[in-house]
Amino acid sequence: MDPILSRRDVRKYLKKSVPKEDIMQLLKAAMAAPSAEDERPWHFIVIDDDKTKNQISKTHSTFYIVAQSPSIIVVCGDEGLQKVHGFWVQDCSAATENAIIEAQYLGLGAVWLGIYPIKGRIQTIRQLLNIPTNIIPFSLLTIGYPAENKTLINYFDMSRVHFGNW
Ligand SMILES: Cc1cc2nc3c(=O)[nH]c(=O)nc-3n(C[C@H](O)[C@H](O)[C@H](O)COP(=O)(O)O)c2cc1C
Repeated sequence: MDPILSRRDVRKYLKKSVPKEDIMQLLKAAMAAPSAEDERPWHFIVIDDDKTKNQISKTHSTFYIVAQSPSIIVVCGDEGLQKVHGFWVQDCSAATENAIIEAQYLGLGAVWLGIYPIKGRIQTIRQLLNIPTNIIPFSLLTIGYPAENKTLINYFDMSRVHFGNW
């Protein structure tokens, strides 16, 4: 099935580690994303050690999934690599979504946990992962083999479509 239309967030994972080749494939997909002026202002932190995941999981109520997720990827933006001010957010969003779609394609599950623009989340994640001040932690992806099967929802909404003009 189309990995885009069959995707739902997966919040329960099997206790099975994700092969490094698959993580590399997700990173390849992320870095294949389009970016403004081809600036590619991203960095990725891959984490699978339990101590760090446990620490991150305690930083926000919905981040509990991090402790149960075999691997996580933190997507970061580097404003210094931008050619057009402000576009790093769209660039990092495209990279995050590409990785999620690739995860679905590989039979993995993922959840996008937002970090940017919430100041408290940015600060705690930066501190825990020693992220330099010029780099902004943007999103966190939990990755693992699904231990739940969610119902598919058709989100298509014709009332949001406008032809010709508004
Ligand atoms: C920008 C963004 C930020 C998100 N932040 C969180 C979050 O902090 N905690 C969380 O549990 N889920 C978060 N999510 C996941 C959404 O809640 C989830 O994608 C949404 O409920 C739709 O469900 P679906 O992914 O199954 O279609 C985020 C998703 C996006 C795109």
